[in-house]
Amino acid sequence: MNHTRRLTLGALVGSALLFAAAINGHAEDKKITLGFAQVGAESAWRTANTVSVKQAAKDAGINLKFSDAQQKQENQIKAIRSYIAQKVDVIAFSPVVESGWEPVLTEAKNAKIPVILTDRNIDVKDQSLYVTMIGSDFLEEGRRGGRWLEERYKNDKGPINIVELQGTVGSAPANDRHAGLMEVIKNDPKFKIIASQSGDFTLAGGKQVMEAFAKTYGKQINVVYAHNDDMALGAIQAMEEAGLKPGTDISVVSFDATKGGFEAMIAGKINVDVECSPLLGPQLMTAVKEVVAGKQLPKRITTEETVFPMSVAAQVLPQRKY
Ligand code: AHR
Repeated sequence: MNHTRRLTLGALVGSALLFAAAINGHAEDKKITLGFAQVGAESAWRTANTVSVKQAAKDAGINLKFSDAQQKQENQIKAIRSYIAQKVDVIAFSPVVESGWEPVLTEAKNAKIPVILTDRNIDVKDQSLYVTMIGSDFLEEGRRGGRWLEERYKNDKGPINIVELQGTVGSAPANDRHAGLMEVIKNDPKFKIIASQSGDFTLAGGKQVMEAFAKTYGKQINVVYAHNDDMALGAIQAMEEAGLKPGTDISVVSFDATKGGFEAMIAGKINVDVECSPLLGPQLMTAVKEVVAGKQLPKRITTEETVFPMSVAAQVLPQRKY
């Protein structure tokens, strides 16, 4: 290709990119502004997620407007409305719960502001209300917890009494981690969920719910299925105070695989931790830039994750990033 043709091609590609950005209403040299509506600061997972988003925005040169909804959907809706009023380039949020998003997302759509979901999914009929969803497959996480239980108790006649510490009521991880477990154990009558209650993904909540379970069911409990590490750690405190032995007499299945979860596995108190990665910031910033450039994104970007039984905890902990 001669010099002139190469220059012409370069100019064409350049103007195509400028055109895509212009369709999106964004001049190429302008700094992108992202409005991010976070769930809250309820868990170690969430803290790591916030750090990841803030750091990645900095690294990507994106101007980040950040809000903390303190686990309340109405606060998140307010934050999204304020980002619409401020005419940010992109809105991203990790939805507290799955339902009730149509009105505010329709407002964003009418204002031509693309919306990216991170971490948690939503339940909407109109899929055009968001561009993409970046995060874990919570249903598969639940199945992984269930499969670990099946393997652990395969030679046991049962009954295997499970108490479940659920996450925030109506949230995607709470709904799906429960559904995933049920999918695996539903045809095996030896597994019985004898109690199930929300501890709102917090350590204090997990402890409080477990205190009540320990009082009511005591030594009848074989398994604690905690929807995250913070609640598992709270439940461990409650079990020990009630004279029960987490990790030995009672199997503890947990989610997230935070450093705190690993330390509890090394201490022999959590038996298995199903990974859920909060390090979504870099993927989110890439998606934000691509959306602004007018690129088509897949509707679902799923995080790769694994399962850590307590036997590998000591070896893996030094590499954990959150
Ligand atoms: O949505 C992810 C979940 O929310 C994590 O499992 C939990 O720790 C967090 O609060």
